[in-house]
Amino acid sequence: MSNLLLETKALTRIFSETGERLEILKGVDFQLQRNEFCVLTGASGSGKSTFLNLVGALDTPTSGEILFEGKNLGKMNSFEKDEYHSKKVGFVFQFHHLLAEFTALENVCVPARILNPHGNLKEVRSRAEELLERVGLKDRLKHLPRELSGGERQRVAVARALMNNPDIVFADEPSGNLDEKNARLLNELFKQIN
Ligand SMILES: Nc1ncnc2c1ncn2[C@@H]1O[C@H](COP(=O)(O)OP(=O)(O)OP(=O)(O)O)[C@@H](O)[C@H]1O
Ligand SMILES: [Mg+2]
Repeated sequence: MSNLLLETKALTRIFSETGERLEILKGVDFQLQRNEFCVLTGASGSGKSTFLNLVGALDTPTSGEILFEGKNLGKMNSFEKDEYHSKKVGFVFQFHHLLAEFTALENVCVPARILNPHGNLKEVRSRAEELLERVGLKDRLKHLPRELSGGERQRVAVARALMNNPDIVFADEPSGNLDEKNARLLNELFKQIN
């Protein structure tokens, strides 16, 4: 099996919704190998989030191709795209997007419940507990997001992104909202997970 997990070919994204033509991505050729840890840096407005939204199939390119395990994202039907979202990739954003009324444990369970609504709840909860333990939150399972610190919330979001055992985790400034110490801890956590 090839080690190449994700590839983009001549990827472009032009925004014209606002009337003016904004050429943000101008032919990006990118490759990510399995198990690779990749950091994308660039000035504000340079197109990092635009790129992540495309490879995460949250947006469609103006032209060019995105291949996941050799499969063209643009040619996937809606079923395959759902599968890509729920099984192949996990997302962590700058702001955690946790569900406010759900505990840490319940939040981590959500992706598994969506993927498989009739799955064994006990198994799902036990995997969620394991993941929360792995991110250092074994004593915070029943806390609501508002009862967690910023760094703890981001760690819950990381555990949630890992719930369905994805091949790639995309993180868009996951520590952008944290103080220096927590940002460092979160970055360490990503390296460990990888
Ligand atoms: N839907 C849209 N319509 C029009 N312009 C957009 C749209 N989305 C993004 N842009 C523009 O594209 C450019 C790149 O945005 P993007 O969010 O990818 O930047 P970024 O590199 O993630 O920046 P930051 O570091 O500030 O998060 C910005 O100038 C933005 O205004
Ligand atoms: Mg951004």
